[in-house]
Amino acid sequence: MNFHVMTLFPEMIRNGLEESITGRAMNKNIISLNTVNIRDFSQDKHLHVDDYPYGGGAGMVMQPGPIYRAFESIKAQTGKDKLRLVYLTPQGSVFNQNMAKDFAKEEDLVFLCGHYEGVDERILEMIVTDYVSIGDYVLTGGELPAMVMIDAISRMVPGVLSNDVSAEFESFSDNLLEYPQYTRPEEFMGNKVPDVLLSGHHANIDKWRREQSLLRTRKWRPDLLEKAELTKKDIEFLDKNPIS
Ligand code: ADE
Repeated sequence: MNFHVMTLFPEMIRNGLEESITGRAMNKNIISLNTVNIRDFSQDKHLHVDDYPYGGGAGMVMQPGPIYRAFESIKAQTGKDKLRLVYLTPQGSVFNQNMAKDFAKEEDLVFLCGHYEGVDERILEMIVTDYVSIGDYVLTGGELPAMVMIDAISRMVPGVLSNDVSAEFESFSDNLLEYPQYTRPEEFMGNKVPDVLLSGHHANIDKWRREQSLLRTRKWRPDLLEKAELTKKDIEFLDKNPIS
């Protein structure tokens, strides 16, 4: 999968994603990251990419021309005339795991990171296919949201995680939070690993993990529990274990 990011801060994107699992996936050519500096497409002698808003008001607005030309360069590079393009904005649909899975089906995905007070509406209308927010708060620019999305989407691309199963069975895959995990030592500062996990009895371990997921989800994310598909056994278990 190829990620293309139009930004005024390409280093920020590269530095964030070239580490850790996304960095390894790039080295293995499972994903690629193409950062496109919008300023390189300014035709202004001072390389300006923004100007005052028509009608007045605070701040500056990013001009349509440099963004248009940056996107044309990505179209030429990919040889594709139609590309899915995400504009990061607090006004967009709030990003979630299902959206990550859906975006992961694309071969090429383009991000536009805004800055200043916004981006000229005309270029957005021309090129944007998806308006996405990463949550109800306002950041200084679209770079961190693009990095958040690329990280979450990359994990859904086959081969990025060493073990494909692990992406399927974790938090949100079925609207339940993940069960707690433990590793050595068996006892840490007087706190023991739950006995069932040391028992080697796989059916009991699965049952315990399912129950822990149910309890956690009810406690921390009751909104998710409403969407989860619960079995009769799940419901009985929750009824027998009221919130403490
Ligand atoms: N740009 C500024 N804030 C944002 C947010 N919360 N999500 C996406 N893009 C943004």
